[in-house]
Amino acid sequence: MSLDEAGAIGEASFARIVEVLHARRVRRVLELGSGQSTLRLEQAVDARISSVEHDSHWIERVRASIATARTDLVWRPLEPRRFGGQVLWSYAPLTWQESFDAVIIDGPPYWTLRGREACMYEIYDRLPVGAVVFVDDCYREGERAAIRNWCAVYEGSFDVRTERASHGLAILDKVAHVAPRWDASARQADAEAIERCYAELRSALVTVGDFRASTWPLVQMREAYGIAPSAPDRRAMRAALGRIAEILAPRLDPGFA
Ligand SMILES: C[S@@+](CC[C@H](N)C(=O)[O-])C[C@H]1O[C@@H](n2cnc3c(N)ncnc32)[C@H](O)[C@@H]1O
Repeated sequence: MSLDEAGAIGEASFARIVEVLHARRVRRVLELGSGQSTLRLEQAVDARISSVEHDSHWIERVRASIATARTDLVWRPLEPRRFGGQVLWSYAPLTWQESFDAVIIDGPPYWTLRGREACMYEIYDRLPVGAVVFVDDCYREGERAAIRNWCAVYEGSFDVRTERASHGLAILDKVAHVAPRWDASARQADAEAIERCYAELRSALVTVGDFRASTWPLVQMREAYGIAPSAPDRRAMRAALGRIAEILAPRLDPGFA
């Protein structure tokens, strides 16, 4: 069960996370994006773990391997969420009211564009000062922008370090609790660009209809974006697939060699 296999967080990043969790003696961990890491986490730390997953098939596979009652796996489908006036596709609202000492953001997938950005807006009020947030894939375009936006919205709230472990790991220490500044100008311009990307992506997904491709998870995206299956528009399909590739490919680039 190596975390260097495709889809998992990477052994080096995981080792770093566990090192920090031990040093902080965390008691309550939230993971966004379940998988092998969830199983390894319950072996590595003596804490309560809540892990959120959007894929109803994948969560059952992970659940079958969970060994302790300390781990709570929770299914939350993807849906449009609104934070500070901006729509972001991410997990349906979380139901816990208690706080978390540590959060690992390793989902939802890149094709939600900014699903991971929304995770911070969802949990910020349940993070005490002293809590730590880890972000996997932190050098990718979407994750970089998410971290920039968090620092603008929650100005002065986080000390941010980025490390080149595995796919790139950001470690954010919450040093102050602040009121959100949703009107931060850097975020506003970015929010408009993301809104255009969502509109184009959804329109391209309507055009490709129920066509399946091995390159992009079209079925998962259509489901998450609430697009009913229909016959593809064959004349416009090539252009639509090209546009999907233009929007998604840069978001998969790890951002460092
Ligand atoms: C980056 S992965 C999260 C992986 C998890 N934190 C880990 O390190 O094992 C993001 C999403 O990809 C999907 N996923 C990850 N591994 C998968 C696999 N082997 N098969 C199918 N889906 C997978 C899940 O929906 C997961 O939430």
